Amino acid sequence: MAFETILTETRGHVALIRLNRPKALNALSDQLLTELGTALDHFEADDAIGCIVLTGSEKAFAAGADIKEMASLDFLTAYKNDFAHKIDRVAACRKPVIAAVAGYALGGGCELAMSCDFILAADTAKFGQPEITLGIMPGMGGTQRLTRLIGRSKAMEMCLTGRMMEAAEAERAGLVSRILPADDLIDEALKTAEKIADFSLPAVMMAKESINRAEEIALAEGLRFERRLFNAMFGTEDQKEGMAAFMEKRGAQFSGR
Ligand code: HXC
Repeated sequence: MAFETILTETRGHVALIRLNRPKALNALSDQLLTELGTALDHFEADDAIGCIVLTGSEKAFAAGADIKEMASLDFLTAYKNDFAHKIDRVAACRKPVIAAVAGYALGGGCELAMSCDFILAADTAKFGQPEITLGIMPGMGGTQRLTRLIGRSKAMEMCLTGRMMEAAEAERAGLVSRILPADDLIDEALKTAEKIADFSLPAVMMAKESINRAEEIALAEGLRFERRLFNAMFGTEDQKEGMAAFMEKRGAQFSGR
């Protein structure tokens, strides 16, 4: 696939998508979000792919939505085009997407990382919602996902002051799942993705779907939802293979069926 603002490659069963607008610190232009959506469509439809890693550069995962593109927007154009909705494609991806974040993840960049399933952060990562300094507020999930991930008090402080969070604070607060030395970030993210991609794809997809439900519904309904998916797993060949492999003391070979 040929894109102008992202680079894509596959490594075995893992797809790697790199945001690639180095001169703009990977600012999320309309074109970039469109191309990202197209790449996700492609990898989601590719049966050989079991997990996707989304990353930026050493200096920036993404420094936000493209301020130069937004500066002259008027309300009606913003409302009609609603370009921010393009980020919804990321959270809607049914296969797992890992954000591997080094450097700045600001504004829409932080929101893009939070739209992924979990964030692996380099020790150089800096997270923030600086929209308030531009006379606006977050618009791609910052007031919602950040609040759910790190709680009201910290989310409020970050959105109202625009201050950045270093990787260590982000890990303590629950925004990122692990911190890695910057030099190891991509290798570790790919290793983590390979591990996931080697498991049963339907089991991985249903676990993801079920965890995402936890954010949307009450516990009793969530437990019923989980139980339905759990019972459905007994209709897969992968369940038979996984349990047979355990009993035969060998590694499982999942087929995704
Ligand atoms: C467009 C951007 C950009 C952005 C950086 N650049 N961030 N262009 N949109 N969000 C460009 C700069 O203009 C500059 O281009 C080049 O990238 C390098 O940036 P510098 O500022 O020179 O780098 P540095 O001094 O290292 O500072 C890094 C930085 C700073 C702290 C990350 O660039 C910064 O504050 N950027 C803006 C962060 C921000 O406010 N993000 C939120 C955006 S609003 P030139 O051509 O000058 O060399 C948002 C809303 C989301 O995300 C919701 C939408 C619905």
